[in-house]
Amino acid sequence: MSNIRDMLEIAGRGNSPGADIRDQLRRDHESVLGDLEALRAETADQRCQAILRRLRRAWVIHALAEETVVYRALEGAEAAVESKTRADERFIEHELVEGLFEKLSRCRPSSLEWHARINVARSLILRHVETEQADMFAQLAQRFDEATLVEMGRRFELARDKLTLLEEAKAA
Ligand SMILES: [Fe+2]
Ligand SMILES: [Fe+2]
Repeated sequence: MSNIRDMLEIAGRGNSPGADIRDQLRRDHESVLGDLEALRAETADQRCQAILRRLRRAWVIHALAEETVVYRALEGAEAAVESKTRADERFIEHELVEGLFEKLSRCRPSSLEWHARINVARSLILRHVETEQADMFAQLAQRFDEATLVEMGRRFELARDKLTLLEEAKAA
């Protein structure tokens, strides 16, 4: 993979217009990857922390909404044991990234550790997003009709809104 923009363009090609769950997931992924790039480019400590807070919150909300609405729906549709293992990997990757963000929040921006953790988080997120937009999007298209995917998108938005309110209340 040459760079993030190429990857997102490739992932976006060939999808039908109109919003279904894949459009919403793709939008979240683009926003997380964009914030991650901003974080890598930033040098001022305070701005690093502000971007990290925004990124971490966006990640937690995306991960939880995705687990509740999308992963669970796929698990319900998946019979093979092998597929279940892969679903588990997705959950663990969400957890690993959140763990890295948590450690980063206690780390001095511009330190070696800061950069190392960001680079590891970036590799994990890129791999995760790439797998979702290739394999998971294909599974969604295979198992659910367009109306179901639109409805799944609606439920994802609702879950996201609810989680956003909860996160805002926590931060207040
Ligand atoms: Fe995702
Ligand atoms: Fe995910």
